[in-house]
Amino acid sequence: MRLLYTVLAIVAYSFKAESSLVCDSDFCVCHHNNKSDREVFGEIIDCSYDPNLLRRNFSLPETAYTLNLSRNNLTKIQFSLILKSETLAELLLNSNQINEIALNALRLANLKRLDLSDNKLEVIHAGTFDHINNLEYLNLANNKFATFEKISFHHLGELQEIVLDNNNLGPSLEDNNLFDRSGYGLTHKIQALSMSGINLENVYDNFFVDAYNLKRLTISNNKLTDTFEFPFTLEYLDISDNPINEISEEDFIDLVGLKELKLNNLQIKEISGYTFASLHSLTSLELERNKNLVNFSAEAFGKEVLDDADYFPLETLSFKGSRLTSLDQELEVPFGQLIRLDLQGNFWNCNCNLKWIKKLQIHPEDYDHLRCYTPKPLYNSRIFELDEKYFNCATKDRSRHIVVTISIVSFCLLLSSLAVWVYMFMPRSQTRCDLANMYSGAGYSVLPMHVSTLRSPL
Ligand SMILES: *[C@@H]1O[C@H](CO)[C@@H](O)[C@H](O)[C@H]1NC(C)=O
Ligand SMILES: *[C@@H]1O[C@H](CO)[C@@H](O)[C@H](O)[C@H]1NC(C)=O
Ligand SMILES: *[C@@H]1O[C@H](CO)[C@@H](O)[C@H](O)[C@H]1NC(C)=O
Ligand SMILES: *[C@@H]1O[C@H](CO)[C@@H](O)[C@H](O)[C@H]1NC(C)=O
Ligand SMILES: *[C@@H]1O[C@H](CO)[C@@H](O)[C@H](O)[C@H]1NC(C)=O
Repeated sequence: MRLLYTVLAIVAYSFKAESSLVCDSDFCVCHHNNKSDREVFGEIIDCSYDPNLLRRNFSLPETAYTLNLSRNNLTKIQFSLILKSETLAELLLNSNQINEIALNALRLANLKRLDLSDNKLEVIHAGTFDHINNLEYLNLANNKFATFEKISFHHLGELQEIVLDNNNLGPSLEDNNLFDRSGYGLTHKIQALSMSGINLENVYDNFFVDAYNLKRLTISNNKLTDTFEFPFTLEYLDISDNPINEISEEDFIDLVGLKELKLNNLQIKEISGYTFASLHSLTSLELERNKNLVNFSAEAFGKEVLDDADYFPLETLSFKGSRLTSLDQELEVPFGQLIRLDLQGNFWNCNCNLKWIKKLQIHPEDYDHLRCYTPKPLYNSRIFELDEKYFNCATKDRSRHIVVTISIVSFCLLLSSLAVWVYMFMPRSQTRCDLANMYSGAGYSVLPMHVSTLRSPL
């Protein structure tokens, strides 16, 4: 009896396993995408909370477009019918516990996007990507890769974007080239590369020389102390959160197509003249949280833009959380053209030199923390709520006034002491003696006579 049940169960299971569509399972939901924002034709299949899903041998509908297997506690990716499809374009395996992908597990000839982020991968065996060679986007962020020797990107000749964030890959990049055919073999056609938080200390010369199509580069949150040769094809560059202590005009000289630049949380102290002058396509610039940045040259964008903002393509600029105390009024013309300017959280010195910024069109959301740091009486006042009359340089004038007063008073004192000196020391000279004698003589000659005339009646 028990045997019969077992046999029946096995038969039922295998029947189910070979025939059932994933859409009929309790763990998966299939729906057609009808959002107008994505050009997705086909079904989206969401499966969650089933760590044994891959062992169940479900098959995908023929029109499957996206398979979402994230957050399933999967540990090993082995071959399963669900991973074999001619139509599937997007596979989400992120946020599992995956530590291994079996060879040939992925047979997805049309796969364009693969997300393996937030897993426990240390190794990707050569051959893993052999049957997904139309891949355009690969996300390997937040895994446990420590050397590129354990990853190989050969066969991914169509790859356009790769994310390697938060893997300890920096040390292995110091003397290996990501694009080397005999090495890691990342395609030279790559357009977007993200290497944030990989412990990179140095980008050696010519690192990107073969990446002739690179448009987006994120290399933030590393240990870089110097800038490096940025590929001139870039449209987007993020080098934030690195201990870089100097940037200059030379760094950006060839980046004529750069549209977005992020220079947040660096160790730079100043932005000198012409630093951004050759960035003729730049529309967005972030200089946030630069705790040493005290000086921003009026000519940072060159001299021409100070008179004619037609040469000024920038639309958004942020200095949020830096240490600027003042901005040159010469910047009024270009800054007046910005769509968004964030000056919050700096150490603004609210005096006559800063009054002009009240004329700028600042987005109301960027008002609240735009406050004075000095002078003391204005500390923490909101600049846009403060009346213009407080933005004066009177303290300086008053002190000049005091200096003038003190000089006049001292001059007078000097004069009077001179007079006293003359009075005190002149008696020893001839003239004063004569004068004294003359007066005393006259006095005596008059007084006795007078006295005698007064006494005589007594
Ligand atoms: C998409 O489809 C769902 C279910 O069929 C429906 O409720 C929703 O209104 C549709 N949305 C659009 C934008 O058509
Ligand atoms: C996944 O595994 C973790 C720990 O092993 C457990 O706490 C969690 O509940 C599991 N989640 C699911 C959806 O099974
Ligand atoms: C899954 O299906 C394939 C093809 O139908 C079959 O060869 C394989 O044995 C099945 N695997 C399991 C675990 O049922
Ligand atoms: C995939 O599924 C997870 C878990 O159910 C969900 O949080 C996530 O939003 C889904 N992703 C997409 C792109 O649908
Ligand atoms: C800022 O730079 C200008 C011009 O180079 C210089 O005169 C000034 O002293 C600098 N200010 C600070 C606070 O470094």
